[in-house]
Amino acid sequence: MRRILVTAALPYSNGSIHLGHLLEQIQTDIWVRFQKLYGNECYYFCADDAHGTATMLSAEEAGVSKEEWISRLREEHIKDLQAFGVDHENYYSTHSPENEKLTQEIYLKLLENGAIFTDEVSQLYDSSKELFLADRYVRGKCPRCGAEDQPGDNCDMCGATYAATDLIEPRSVHSDSKPVLKSSTHYFFDLAQFTSFLREWTTSGTVREDVSNKLKEWLESGLKPWDISRDAPYFGFQIPETSNKYFYVWLDAPIGYMASFRNWCDRSGVEFDDFWKPGNDTEVHHFIGKDIVNFHALFWPAVLKCSGFRTPTRIHVHGYITVDGEKMSKSKGTFIKAETYSEFLDPETLRYYYAARLTPTINDIDFSFADFLARVNSDLVGKLVNIPSRCANFLARGFDSQLSTELSEPSLFEEFAASKASIEQLYELGDTAQVVRAVMSLADKANQYIASNPPWELAKQEGKEQELQNTCTLAINLFRTLCVYLKPIVPMLVERSEQFLNSEPLTWNDVDEPLLDHRLGKFKRLMNRIDQKQIDKLIEASKETSAIEPESDEDQITIEDFQKIDLRVAEILDARFVDGADSLLELKLKVGTGERIVFAGIRTAYDPEKLKGRHVVVVANLKPRKMRFGTSEGMVLAAGPGGSDIFLVSPDDGALSGMEVR
Ligand code: 2FM
Ligand code: ZN
Repeated sequence: MRRILVTAALPYSNGSIHLGHLLEQIQTDIWVRFQKLYGNECYYFCADDAHGTATMLSAEEAGVSKEEWISRLREEHIKDLQAFGVDHENYYSTHSPENEKLTQEIYLKLLENGAIFTDEVSQLYDSSKELFLADRYVRGKCPRCGAEDQPGDNCDMCGATYAATDLIEPRSVHSDSKPVLKSSTHYFFDLAQFTSFLREWTTSGTVREDVSNKLKEWLESGLKPWDISRDAPYFGFQIPETSNKYFYVWLDAPIGYMASFRNWCDRSGVEFDDFWKPGNDTEVHHFIGKDIVNFHALFWPAVLKCSGFRTPTRIHVHGYITVDGEKMSKSKGTFIKAETYSEFLDPETLRYYYAARLTPTINDIDFSFADFLARVNSDLVGKLVNIPSRCANFLARGFDSQLSTELSEPSLFEEFAASKASIEQLYELGDTAQVVRAVMSLADKANQYIASNPPWELAKQEGKEQELQNTCTLAINLFRTLCVYLKPIVPMLVERSEQFLNSEPLTWNDVDEPLLDHRLGKFKRLMNRIDQKQIDKLIEASKETSAIEPESDEDQITIEDFQKIDLRVAEILDARFVDGADSLLELKLKVGTGERIVFAGIRTAYDPEKLKGRHVVVVANLKPRKMRFGTSEGMVLAAGPGGSDIFLVSPDDGALSGMEVR
């Protein structure tokens, strides 16, 4: 029996659990459930990642203490994850006494072993807030292209990367004040000392090749010292022997894995050292996303090695989640929170769908609503649940729910059992997409078996009672095998099936022994089909109140950008079709005392004849644009989805009606 400790990345105490977190938490939970079902000793730990400036500022904004804030979020996170069947041994917090003790202990070891040094760092500082500014909290003009309001690390417009100190006219996002350069002492972990250890470690089966190749690039370009300190004010653990220095959140976060385990050891009787001291025959597995590989496959093993702890057995890395091919978007309603999902859909449908898409690679995973609906309905409802729905009633009516004493076609049952070894391997590798494929092809076989010996026909025929009971008995046994195989993926559905089977909780080896001469429980509907309407409602409910909110910072303009726009009311003097342009109208506008020609894409919605004399709002200072049909000297404001639904912003019908044209 293997002894395995498993972790998923720690969600920040800074927002709700969403589809992205769920991908990883569910992936990890499936792996853990498989190990347990198989008979290994396996424990799953997680926690909230509580520290850092972001938490500190969120608490401040919410007007509560940091402790109150992180405890609220932790409760919410636990509730959300439990709803999806994610079953941790312990879900703790990095802001805990165990973590503080371990972090200090580890740091002192690093210090003792000569891996820590200090250096002066000049950093931008917000004097009004008395806060050193991380790059993302400084904005200014790009030093390369001059684009306004760019973040402190790279320019969204031209892609240049630079230091926050290179920004022209930098501003603190907290106070809008001009930051000053201030120097302070920082503590560094000398990662380069561990280069040869990491070269060996990252190529010894701890990560897959796609990941080790990425790591190789970093290792070859030379490992830089890692800045592990932050100056006060900071929410974190204080560095021993200092008055105002705190450990950077990323130092104590992975130690939070150990702390969550230690906190549980104290009440479970499992030995902490069995899993964290070197030389034991136990395993530690971390599940993470590809964005945090450097922390887990470089810093973390080096820190553990240097402080005398064991290093992880394996790091399982997954790709990002997209929804219908795009980044999750609040305005499109695809930034879906766990809580909203469970309001409209059975959480287990997500477990199933993720399992069907997850492979061991770092490829991104797309949540496609159409595919999701089809798979859940056709696989889980149409194929799996369909088996007992087609047989249970015949057994109940004619045989008091009693199964036959033997299998009429043992070879079919054995064929199902023979998949056990390959499914085991697929689970172990994290290739649940293939598990699902294999199980569904067995489900097809079970349904074919029923279709070729239809119980509903047998039930009509005299003298076929035994055959009917045997057919249903075999079908139920095939269903039971499928339940075993799918139990890590859809544990709640399988639990309902276990009630129907009226048996002990299924274990992995149950696929070898049929259930015979046994009375089944009452059959109740095991799962409902998903209706498109549920998905529509979910998306609608996920849309943030301001549906026009841009999805990312890159799409946003600042108030300064907006103020540059010179909006004027203009009168349409003339409007006509443009030859060869299906969507354009040529408008002659009176703006102030002058006249201008503007080409507007409103032809599908407006009749030019009816536009004459109307007032519209025009962007008066738009640089004239040469078009195929002439030069457009401005832009009229209009919005709408397109076609006949384009609406000119027109003052005629509103408060400005009759207003003078200026
Ligand atoms: O990227 C994140 O969301 C981090 N909170 C993950 C931390 S994982 C671990 F190292 F603690
Ligand atoms: Zn730029």
